[in-house]
Amino acid sequence: MKDRILVVGPSNTDMIIKLERLPTPGETIIGGEFATAGGGKGANQAVQCARLGAPVILLARIGKDPFGDRSVEQFQMEGIDTSFIIRDAEHHSGIALIFVDKKGENMIAVAPGSNSFLSKADVEMAREAFKISSTLLLQLEIPLEPVEASVFLAKEEGTRVILNPAPAQPLPQSVLENVDILVPNETEAKILSGFPPDEDISPLELAKMLRAKGVKRVIITLGSKGSLYVDENEQFEVPAFKVESVDTTAAGDSFCGALAVAISEGKGIREAIRFASACAAISTTRLGAQPSLPRREEVEEFLRQRS
Ligand code: RIB
Repeated sequence: MKDRILVVGPSNTDMIIKLERLPTPGETIIGGEFATAGGGKGANQAVQCARLGAPVILLARIGKDPFGDRSVEQFQMEGIDTSFIIRDAEHHSGIALIFVDKKGENMIAVAPGSNSFLSKADVEMAREAFKISSTLLLQLEIPLEPVEASVFLAKEEGTRVILNPAPAQPLPQSVLENVDILVPNETEAKILSGFPPDEDISPLELAKMLRAKGVKRVIITLGSKGSLYVDENEQFEVPAFKVESVDTTAAGDSFCGALAVAISEGKGIREAIRFASACAAISTTRLGAQPSLPRREEVEEFLRQRS
């Protein structure tokens, strides 16, 4: 049965320091709370899908080291299918250093390690995972080669492609025209459209430009301003939920994981975006990437209270 969500992407261990404010270059700030947590955009999205009850497969390259062991154990506890994870004895597992300020804004530096070695061959070896998946969820924290290979294999196998282009880089037309749903934030949308991050251009214009490059459906996430949806027939905005934000790390991952789940369950696009926005909002109320990702009951209760 073609009922799984396949996530292809990185897994990291996040080392988090909570600070009054983010440091400037050359500055040392003494911080408060320290925490380690599961992270990496791919792993975060897979965990979010699993916590919402979806059958999910994670295709990732993870170091054969204690960080990697802990990540794989955690995925198994979450109910994620880890049989397509490749353990890499030559490269360390991904590590991210994260500063979070008192407003919940962050600064992230990643040493990708084994994530950088996920290859086209690794993807092609996992054809079976594409065959049994209705949806492929991808980000850009791995090299472009396995991203391209995944998109092409998904098309061959009739699997829907959702691409979260984070961190952004210009993408070839051949990738963009095979993406069913593209989910950039505003800065990522600018970079993908060939503009600098400070370009004064509206999200609607950006979404239309991305559509002109061949993307079927575009959702631009706008943080506290909600999100904008554009396809061939309609365009609309979905407001964000107001919450007390503690840490925005992985809010985008929570949104994308939840969107993939809602779409694979057959929810309409408006309802899917609202569901994803609720998940992302809840995730910002807690510190850390994977520890912050909500379970289905919590999201449903959150939505009930706001309907
Ligand atoms: O999207 C948040 C993630 O980005 C963090 O978990 C960190 O690992 C980096 O990959």
